Amino acid sequence: MVPPMRDAVQARGLTHLCVWANQKGAKDKAVEIGAYAGEGTVILANHFKEVTSVDPWINGYDGGDVASFQAPMKWVFNAWKKRTEAFPNIRCSRTTSKDAAVHFEDGSLDFVYVDGDHRHEAVVASLENPHGSSGAPMKPVFSFPSPSRS
Ligand SMILES: C[S@@+](CC[C@H](N)C(=O)[O-])C[C@H]1O[C@@H](n2cnc3c(N)ncnc32)[C@H](O)[C@@H]1O
Repeated sequence: MVPPMRDAVQARGLTHLCVWANQKGAKDKAVEIGAYAGEGTVILANHFKEVTSVDPWINGYDGGDVASFQAPMKWVFNAWKKRTEAFPNIRCSRTTSKDAAVHFEDGSLDFVYVDGDHRHEAVVASLENPHGSSGAPMKPVFSFPSPSRS
């Protein structure tokens, strides 16, 4: 059994964020960096045409993040698959944000939700990668925590 990652208030918060992004014109391609058991993935899938979850699903990435060690990632990935199986618009890339970045064209994404490795350097790396080599501007990118506050 995989413990829940977000409560109802947090689920509503992510829903509001998606609605706001949709209103700003971000509706098509979303990427979720860090998907865990798919609770956030299905919220994104209800608001975007396509969602790609990027997550290596490997334990031990950060001793300070309960998600890193509270359940075997094999179970967590199975929970993600089960939760998302009814959504034809969800796919996954089972790798790190750094390694997945090369598979996305510059400027091709409408929304990137950064909720993977929360350590400062990792968040900054995740934010740098989606811009690609051209530095093309993106539509909304959200990261938790914000690198300026960590
Ligand atoms: C806080 S959980 C994600 C919660 C999820 N977004 C939700 O809404 O329920 C963090 C996840 O980030 C993943 N992760 C850790 N390092 C990563 C990296 N370098 N790239 C992508 N995902 C990573 C972990 O495997 C873990 O599943």
